[in-house]
Amino acid sequence: MKRTVFHFTVAIILLAASSSRAQSHAGPSPEDSASPAEQVFKNIQVLKGTPANQIVPSMQFIANSLGVECGFCHVRGANEKDDKKTKQTARQMIQMQMAINRDNFKGEREVTCFSCHRGSHDPVGVPIIAEGEPKRPEPEKEEAAAPALPTADEILNKYVQAVGGAAALEKITSRVEKGTISFGPQQLQVEVLAKAPNKRISMVHTPNGDNITAFDGHAGWIGNPGPRPPRDMSEPENEAIGFDATFYLPTELKKMFAQFRVRPAAEKIGGHDVMQLIGANPGKPPMRLFFDKESGLLVRSIRYADTPLGRNPTQVDYADYRSQDGVKIPFQWTLARPLGRFTVQIAELQQNVPVDDKKFEKPAAPAAPAEPKVPAK
Ligand code: HEC
Ligand code: HEC
Repeated sequence: MKRTVFHFTVAIILLAASSSRAQSHAGPSPEDSASPAEQVFKNIQVLKGTPANQIVPSMQFIANSLGVECGFCHVRGANEKDDKKTKQTARQMIQMQMAINRDNFKGEREVTCFSCHRGSHDPVGVPIIAEGEPKRPEPEKEEAAAPALPTADEILNKYVQAVGGAAALEKITSRVEKGTISFGPQQLQVEVLAKAPNKRISMVHTPNGDNITAFDGHAGWIGNPGPRPPRDMSEPENEAIGFDATFYLPTELKKMFAQFRVRPAAEKIGGHDVMQLIGANPGKPPMRLFFDKESGLLVRSIRYADTPLGRNPTQVDYADYRSQDGVKIPFQWTLARPLGRFTVQIAELQQNVPVDDKKFEKPAAPAAPAEPKVPAK
């Protein structure tokens, strides 16, 4: 029982959109298709016309906004059932969100579940009395103190210099990392292989087999422990892993976005002042990148996956930069979503070792062996 819950958590945290795929499918799941949701699912009433592959991401947006898990509204294993009052209310709420935006914001998605719910299923309608003296914004003071911002080019060039320079970067063509991945009190071994220009595979060793996320240079795939066959990634998952797999990220960043904006960052990250760079491509949600003001290193990225109801954010913090073979590499990263996070800590890192291209390819047949017969503890 414990194990099931744990694996469920691993799946939820590691993967953006896989938790609904409880049954094993031989081929690509219809849930991953762009067909209208009502043709693929059993009981779609208000999200009719939404592509099927947007349903689970939309559900994650709802769960993120209310701070609840799927079971808050769904009967386990029967998402189509309307037994829970909360699911029926949620349906009304989806219609309400659409109406608010249509009637007040020219159809722009300004108000979402999160606007009211803020991580609670029971939104507060009465202003809160703060402990002690309430904080008030000081707009005038802030404006006066605003320092001149560097340009995007300056920030990106400083980043390249900070990691050791373009020439040093190019001398490295592969990387093998071993370490641990922790989710709260749980810890597992993890291995990451990467190869220039953009191949990457990370394997989390679970007692039942490997949890794999990989990018073969063109497309991403996900491998599960147990009998389920590996599956192709969805569009937003592909974009995310494509970014992570970019081997020469510091020099490639410039080419990855059509437009950059520089913004001051209000908060410190890891106790350091940071600069914020927003990278945008037409028709896509932007990506926020935060650089340590002093060292110039990338310390945080925030990306967004669009869903019909709102955007799901993913934040990655990069820390523990160490020099090896003339380049600086983060030995630690923390991936955080509204409902979970994990941290990878690298213990051992080797570069320029031969890594076979085959390692990154999706296995044709189910790779994982049958569930080992380990007695439940
Ligand atoms: C706050 C309530 C709520 C939460 C939390 C929620 N859902 Fe839903 N879910 C709904 C509603 C409402 C519908 C029906 C939408 C419609 O009628 O268009 C739905 C429909 C679905 C469907 C389609 C089922 C079918 O066959 O008709 C799936 C699949 C689904 N949800 C998965 C999930 C998953 C996975 C999670 C957790 C990440 C989740 N839901 C969290 C309210 C919720
Ligand atoms: C304009 C503000 C607003 C927006 C937007 C909004 N809600 Fe709500 N929601 C409320 C309020 C207020 C309540 C509590 C009503 C009550 O107490 O009777 C509520 C209650 C709920 C409940 C019942 C919770 C429970 O504990 O029974 C669910 C489920 C819910 N909302 C889902 C959603 C979803 C899903 C969205 C986005 C599609 C959403 N809401 C958007 C204001 C909002």
